[in-house]
Amino acid sequence: MSGSSMPAAARGHGSEAVSVAAERRWAYIVMAIIALLILMMVFTGLHWASMPPSRVETVDIKTLHVKGEFVESNLGTTMGPDGKVTVRLVAQQYSFVPQCIVVPAEMSVTFRGTATDAIHGFIVGRTNVNTMLIPGFVATFTTTFSRTGEQLMPCHEYCGTGHEAMWARVQVLPTAEFLSKARGGERLSCVPS
Ligand code: CUA
Repeated sequence: MSGSSMPAAARGHGSEAVSVAAERRWAYIVMAIIALLILMMVFTGLHWASMPPSRVETVDIKTLHVKGEFVESNLGTTMGPDGKVTVRLVAQQYSFVPQCIVVPAEMSVTFRGTATDAIHGFIVGRTNVNTMLIPGFVATFTTTFSRTGEQLMPCHEYCGTGHEAMWARVQVLPTAEFLSKARGGERLSCVPS
């Protein structure tokens, strides 16, 4: 009995030292993580105080329909002389304009959108296009569609009683087919006329 109690006590001291060392190690790791988070907060607070987190572009919703970039005749898809494809759209309760958007596959496409009345969601099917359209602000999203075909574009931000019925379609055309249509420089959409 007495013979076995001594090694047991020795073992106890040994494991205590091990556990204290392990606890101290974890305490240092936790302190390092907290210090890193505090440094990140200080950095982003100071750095972004002088530089906003994203480029903020505003638009006057009162004159949206009558002048400027988002008048109805300027909505839809265009290809500039430099070959850049831009899609302009407006969201309102409870529809998107245009209701059907044409884009090319395998080309960089920039969406520029805004909303007239409430915050609406902007997401395109199984792509990475996902943002919000906020009255007074211009949302931009640049992406490349890898597959041709039709994608649904539902509003995914609750915007009122008609929210569920608010959606549009995006037709992704083969690059050559899009280029032949867009070459004239006019606004394109797939809304049946
Ligand atoms: Cu628009 Cu929900």
